[in-house]
Amino acid sequence: MGEAEKKERKPVILSGIQPTGIFTLGNYIGAIRNWEKLQEEANCIYMIADLHSLTVRQDPAALRQKILECFALLMALGIDPEKSLMFIQSQVHTHAELSWVLSCYTQFGELSRMTQFKDKSARHADNVNAGLFTYPVLMAADILIYQPDLVPVGGDQKQHVEIARDIALRFNGIYGNVFRIPEPYIPQVGARVKSLADPTKKMSKSDENPNGTILVLDPPETIVKKFKRAVTDSEMEVVYREGKDGINNLMTIYSSVTGLTFDQIAHDFDGKGYGDFKTAVGEAVAEHLRPVREKFAQLIQDKAYLQKCYTEGAEKALAYSSRTLEKVYKKVGFVPLPKK
Ligand code: TYM
Repeated sequence: MGEAEKKERKPVILSGIQPTGIFTLGNYIGAIRNWEKLQEEANCIYMIADLHSLTVRQDPAALRQKILECFALLMALGIDPEKSLMFIQSQVHTHAELSWVLSCYTQFGELSRMTQFKDKSARHADNVNAGLFTYPVLMAADILIYQPDLVPVGGDQKQHVEIARDIALRFNGIYGNVFRIPEPYIPQVGARVKSLADPTKKMSKSDENPNGTILVLDPPETIVKKFKRAVTDSEMEVVYREGKDGINNLMTIYSSVTGLTFDQIAHDFDGKGYGDFKTAVGEAVAEHLRPVREKFAQLIQDKAYLQKCYTEGAEKALAYSSRTLEKVYKKVGFVPLPKK
């Protein structure tokens, strides 16, 4: 690459999200909000990671519906198919192909150390399938195949981005410069949004207690109600401090949607009770998400437009990712078909 080209080259951003349900406020604050912002300054690639969702048993009809809803929801949250490359992972076959190759350069031991594997295999003890174990390799393929600079994720995915880097470094060590080594991009505030019902646990789509999780399409009244019930502590001080998990979490959420610092929030709620604070957080979040619900309701009706967007996205993603896959196949020694 020449100097001028280097200067002009916009960074490449890649990330994904599983279509296992309507996204949570954690997904939004930890990841999607950054995805939206980065669109202005980078070449962004965002995918609905449906292959990943098969690691937990899914009902086929419900999964099909959720994939389309999640695609529309990303758009409602500000991901613009005119600015970013958006697609559905299973429609782009190169990811699964690269994943196989990379799995031969990944050690059993390093996959066994993944905390998410340990957690999920404990939670789904009746279905500890091989996909759950090799999941980080597929995620490494998702990432490395687009040669990105940055991977914007929440704190829980950091370890998976790190293993993708390790695999890429190992592969490059054997075959030369095949993969760009990506960096995780994690928000300073909001990397781990916690459950409102148990602020020691992360907010998650799969939480059995619906009061702990805010879904980005929850109606405003539901959002406010869930915040009013949020678990806090027996003190009375709105301040960010170790040991105040519930209040720390509410302050993180409030800061994320209003842009206020923790000091400003502590100052504004000095001498006021937790009740006032919880209501303020609930109202701020409900207001922030109001346009998302409206936009989603429109988009999900327009099946033809959605189809056009994901079809174009899949075509571009296939062309883009095939370049890396061809290079990898060549490096490892496979015989290419003659070009037509
Ligand atoms: P997933 O679908 O579990 O989550 C999507 C994104 O949301 C972030 N996140 C959170 N951030 C803060 N607080 C929370 N409570 C919270 N819950 C979730 C996640 O960190 C993530 O960034 N394996 C990935 C999807 C994936 C992917 C990829 C990501 C597949 N291929 C390639 C990046 C690059 C996953 O299951 O994310």
